[in-house]
Amino acid sequence: MANLLAIHGSPRRKGNTTLLLKRAVEGAREAGGTVEEIVLRDLKISPCLEIYGCKETGRCAIKDDFQGLYDKLLSCDGLMLASPIFFYTVSAHTKILMDRCQSLWVKRYWLEKTPFGKKEFNRKGLFISAGATKGKKLFDGVLLTVRYFFDALDMELWNSLLYRELDFEGDVLKHPEYLEAAYTAGKQFSRVLDGQSPT
Ligand SMILES: Cc1cc2nc3c(=O)[nH]c(=O)nc-3n(C[C@H](O)[C@H](O)[C@H](O)COP(=O)(O)O)c2cc1C
Repeated sequence: MANLLAIHGSPRRKGNTTLLLKRAVEGAREAGGTVEEIVLRDLKISPCLEIYGCKETGRCAIKDDFQGLYDKLLSCDGLMLASPIFFYTVSAHTKILMDRCQSLWVKRYWLEKTPFGKKEFNRKGLFISAGATKGKKLFDGVLLTVRYFFDALDMELWNSLLYRELDFEGDVLKHPEYLEAAYTAGKQFSRVLDGQSPT
């Protein structure tokens, strides 16, 4: 049975990416996965202070709510991350989490001496995002950020669900097909993590 973590990165409680991720969580549970949901806005997490207290053990030295999350990030089989597009990248809540995961980057590349550019990963990530505009390049920046974030976690970016022209809270409800795609992706993700075929 796959053990998944679902992280909500929107500051909105019922935002578009939250509704999408909730459907993905339902799909993953339907497929038999165990899913823990984390709402970043409910946690007190400092930005990275760049003191490299993580250099000895790979564990961040700042004592706040990131510590509990660190253990969960290390132990899950797969991560479902949802963030709105804010200025062509992730939300501030999500970026703060990512920067604190520099401790995991240090663990992987400095302490465990993983070669740079290694293409095999032990775990997988699913990314969900939404932006208000319809530009071709809307997700270019965020995809690079997310790919390297997952890399630090020893995860490949397994799939991403990216939706344009969603702005106001609940806009995604006008697109049941997006919510259905999120449900299916969650279901398939859990199956794949469990070593089964996606369908
Ligand atoms: C601070 C901020 C920055 C934003 N930057 C962008 C942007 O660069 N491009 C874009 O298309 N939409 C941008 N948006 C709109 C959000 O991406 C959009 O409303 C999205 O649906 C919010 O998702 P959520 O409901 O899950 O929070 C921005 C919104 C805010 C509040």
